[in-house]
Amino acid sequence: MIVLGIESSCDETAAAIVNDQRQILGECVLTQLEHKVYGGVVPEIAARCHLEHIDEILEETFKRANLKPQDIDAIAASSGPGLIGGVVVGVMAGKALALALNKPFIAINHLEGHALAARLTSDVKYPYLLLLVSGGHCQILIVKGVGEFERLGTTIDDAAGEAFDKVAKMLSLGYPGGPMIEKMAALGDENRFVLPRPLQNSHDCNLSFSGLKTAVRKIIESYAPDDNIEHAILRKQDTADICASFQKAATESLVYKLQKAIVIFKTKYPQGKDLVVSGGVAANTYLRNRLQQLADTEGLIFSAPPIRFCTDNGVMIAWAGMERALKGMYNGLDFKPRPRWPLDADAPKAAGAGGVKA
Ligand code: KG4
Ligand code: ZN
Repeated sequence: MIVLGIESSCDETAAAIVNDQRQILGECVLTQLEHKVYGGVVPEIAARCHLEHIDEILEETFKRANLKPQDIDAIAASSGPGLIGGVVVGVMAGKALALALNKPFIAINHLEGHALAARLTSDVKYPYLLLLVSGGHCQILIVKGVGEFERLGTTIDDAAGEAFDKVAKMLSLGYPGGPMIEKMAALGDENRFVLPRPLQNSHDCNLSFSGLKTAVRKIIESYAPDDNIEHAILRKQDTADICASFQKAATESLVYKLQKAIVIFKTKYPQGKDLVVSGGVAANTYLRNRLQQLADTEGLIFSAPPIRFCTDNGVMIAWAGMERALKGMYNGLDFKPRPRWPLDADAPKAAGAGGVKA
């Protein structure tokens, strides 16, 4: 079985082809640089860029895989949640190929793409505990199977990646902020600034980053003669120390709530062995190291996708498509892209319930 995956829900136009032997036959990612000057993704510009580049990305992916469109068995496209203009471009490209080739179409929840990515590269078995941390989402879930998610906690305000991006913006480090914060943090003293660990007193697994972000803002303001962060006079070392202290606080907030989630996971699923992190923030080595330590302490096996498959890519969509295709979970060409699509909401229909089969 060979599946093509298409990703276009944010600022990466990407495609990949994988087979059921877990081999990546070809892949291609274009990260849109057009947004850098705006300090964040501009939806209209993103949609236009996806439209301009989707054909060449698909062509290049087939070329790298040394395959022809007729060689694939199914087409999967990231169909939400995300910026709807971009999602529509990828879904339309996927449906057009499916129609022209008479192959089945699979609508992938972008978050499911992140959630299952580690199963392509590591021997992760259902059920597993997942920390999903991206630019738009921050959730702790139990992944029981394809399309079967139990959410234990979520952020009540900002996503983890959003917090990294906003702190980076306050420090004029550019977009996306996560990689820049990580780079600066490596040069800094993580114990210099005392920052809050939000929601530590709540008994649930929910997370919050807005208080942490505000605390960072106050520190930066204290370096400005008029309390305006744009006028803050920071030495490189001050910036590095802020980044390191923030990265530590954000990571410890995640670890703290994961500890609570592990208790629930072990009680409900004693057979579960794996702790997985995924999503763009999972590219952060400091976080990965802390999660490895946590898993060691808790007797769990820690897995994360290789760093390049943490941020948005076509491989994770192709692999989620493969997992669905192997179960015959296809969608009709009337599937409507969903700008909002919670992971634990209704799963796409299985074959036989309106699905198109080759
Ligand atoms: O999964 P992703 O590529 O897109 C979404 O689905 O949102 O995640 C992007 C997010 C951005 O907020 C970016 O700052 C963050 O992932 N990120 C990182 C790192 N690399 C990317 N955050 C912390 N450390 C990193 N190394
Ligand atoms: Zn993503």
